[in-house]
Amino acid sequence: MPPRTRGGVAGGREEVHPSGEAETRSDSEFDLEAYSQNLAEQSARAVEKGEIRTDFEGVVAHVPVMLGEVLQVFHGRRLRSFVDCTVGAGGHSSAIIRAHPDLQFYLGLDVDTTALETARDRIDAAIEDARCASEMEHSRLEAHLRLHLSLDGILMDLGMSSMQVNNPRRGFSVLGDGPLDMRMNPQAALKAEDILNSWPEAEVGRVLKEYGEESNWRLLQKKIMSARLHGGLHSTKELADLVRSTSPKSKGRQGWIKTATRVFQALRIAVNDELKTLEDALYGSFECLSSGGRLAVISFHSLEDRIVKQTFLCIINKEEGVKSSAEEEVAENWSKARVVGKEGIILTKRPITPTEEEEKLNVRCRSAKLRVIQKI
Ligand SMILES: C[S@@+](CC[C@H](N)C(=O)[O-])C[C@H]1O[C@@H](n2cnc3c(N)ncnc32)[C@H](O)[C@@H]1O
Repeated sequence: MPPRTRGGVAGGREEVHPSGEAETRSDSEFDLEAYSQNLAEQSARAVEKGEIRTDFEGVVAHVPVMLGEVLQVFHGRRLRSFVDCTVGAGGHSSAIIRAHPDLQFYLGLDVDTTALETARDRIDAAIEDARCASEMEHSRLEAHLRLHLSLDGILMDLGMSSMQVNNPRRGFSVLGDGPLDMRMNPQAALKAEDILNSWPEAEVGRVLKEYGEESNWRLLQKKIMSARLHGGLHSTKELADLVRSTSPKSKGRQGWIKTATRVFQALRIAVNDELKTLEDALYGSFECLSSGGRLAVISFHSLEDRIVKQTFLCIINKEEGVKSSAEEEVAENWSKARVVGKEGIILTKRPITPTEEEEKLNVRCRSAKLRVIQKI
């Protein structure tokens, strides 16, 4: 079924983000039915596998963010080959597979083996209906892609899945208690506690400042160094308590939680080398696209989005004097303004953000931004 778009001529509303950047609020009609079905499907599978536990650890359904918008990106286009670089719970993948009966090859990648296990049944069921060749690989998103050329579609849905965030044992959760792990790839060597307890002081400060954009980074760095004198930090609760002790009481609970969220983000980016990985993956993916092939990326914080925006501009190799948009016939309602280069076209001059309906239902999507590039 084609993704639904709201009627009207103007389409998505341009808004200005607090950072000053213009963005376009999606005008897709939010598909509540697909949203509920996603939740129901995953809960049923979790019950079937005995994965729902009374302590709520581990398995909480992950609802794909901006699903309608992602489907729209590939709607009506030839999609013979598709790679999902971040399979997660398989929500985007299974919907795309089902929406494209012409699909001949699907590859799903995830650095987290538990995500692949969760998604496998769901993807297998969609593949069975589609009868296309498929592979699922435990792989970093930038590594495996180069083996495949001439892809018609690639998706990156960055960040963490709900299964990862909601499982305190993975160490991503500010409010739950667990080990200071934060590895997306459970087989990787570096954990957050290694950074906190043994990286040089200046490096710890840099991580907090650059990856957390945390103004109070100097005080936090000092506190982390003093904690080392008392055996170091070993649980997410200890880290959250340390952050709380540095936050002004006047700002209340929300104040320290915001700071802790930035500190956890900073450590997660460093543990998983997320920014460098992203840049490499964007270049690698574009190389693998066929002519007319599209790469869609959903990012969740400004550092990621900046990299996507700037790398897209470098990749398309925009010629001086070539007009940014308008002269490209914009036949698709969702793509409001484009930037044309020698190598490619950015289909989202301004990033697309979720509908208000989706934001109300899924807090996780609030910071999501979708950017899309097409190879010439
Ligand atoms: C937001 S989730 C994807 C959710 C998915 N789109 C869905 O519909 O269920 C992001 C996934 O990307 C994976 N991931 C993060 N960094 C990665 C990397 N460098 N390479 C491959 N996968 C990565 C995470 O393990 C996580 O499962």
